[in-house]
Amino acid sequence: MTKRILAIESSCDETSAAIVDEQGTILSNVVASQAGEHASTMGVVPEVAARRHASAIVPTIELALQESTQTREDITHIAVTATPGLLPALQVGVVAAKALATAWKLPLIPVNHLDAHIATTFVQDPEPQFPVVSLLVSGGHTELSFHPDKTTRTILGRTRDDAGGEAFDKVARMMGLPYPGGPQIAKLLPEGDKQRFPFPRPMLNDPSDDFSFSGIKTDVKRIIDTLPQPLSHQDKADVAASFAEAMTETLVGKTVRAALREGAASVILSGGVAADKYLRQVLTDTLKQNGLELYVPPISLCGDNAAMIGIAALWADERPIHDVHATPTSRTHKRGTTEKYSN
Ligand code: KG4
Ligand code: ZN
Repeated sequence: MTKRILAIESSCDETSAAIVDEQGTILSNVVASQAGEHASTMGVVPEVAARRHASAIVPTIELALQESTQTREDITHIAVTATPGLLPALQVGVVAAKALATAWKLPLIPVNHLDAHIATTFVQDPEPQFPVVSLLVSGGHTELSFHPDKTTRTILGRTRDDAGGEAFDKVARMMGLPYPGGPQIAKLLPEGDKQRFPFPRPMLNDPSDDFSFSGIKTDVKRIIDTLPQPLSHQDKADVAASFAEAMTETLVGKTVRAALREGAASVILSGGVAADKYLRQVLTDTLKQNGLELYVPPISLCGDNAAMIGIAALWADERPIHDVHATPTSRTHKRGTTEKYSN
């Protein structure tokens, strides 16, 4: 029987369920976003997120089955995000997945959320050529990694403090823009002057592949405090554009350097911030000048969704149900160690 995976994602503020087949074709991908509910707290409160997941999870799974036109008899595997993420949020998906795997007597595949962001690009036509250097930028993580094949990776570097997406969210918040901040800054960017504020390019010339985004945030705050309050639309746009330029130059510079040094055949950009069209464009162009090609997920698969969990499950191992646990910190996170995809 060919594989049909029911995948579940609840690591942060999206409750999602998807059906994915053996070729990685997405038969359905239902995403119930809580972003609007976290706008008032300007960020995700884990217990609030968990309560929302708990009420959304069953209807989301039912809708995913319905939209895929599959029945439960067609499902051969259950996959779930087990790590990393907010513990109370992860637990909702993991408990649901364990219950379904038990009741339906199906194998359970725990998936690493970061592997899943990256794996969305593995099923494209054409597929990326290996070895790959991957830049993953999300609300909780920023990592450069080296992949000799689809199931092995070595962490080259990561952020020492804030994640890239977190920096977008915090800068947007300083300007009174709603959560999540990345799309808000992206919207203002074309109206702003990228050169007006020369924000730092943190660790751009550091020999390591690490990032640091907390300093740039402090610098943005210092500049905002010098501007007339409340901020004019043009000042906001200029801050947004100058900040995005600094972030882009840093992310692109470090990624291209790592790709050339490691002899990558292609480069992957993924995670929520990969939805940033400006970052996609500048990275594409800079890689092209260096004879390299960029692979990105379609915009609709950049943010958190369960289809990516189902796709990553095609290369991950089944685990005994009692052995699958929600784990807030991923252990595939040690710099310089090579690990197979598994939890
Ligand atoms: O991967 P993701 O959906 O969730 C996590 O796993 O964290 O990433 C969410 C992050 C948020 O910080 C959000 O502001 C950022 O991705 N983001 C963007 C854009 N769309 C989402 N950042 C920059 N430009 C965008 N267009
Ligand atoms: Zn994510």
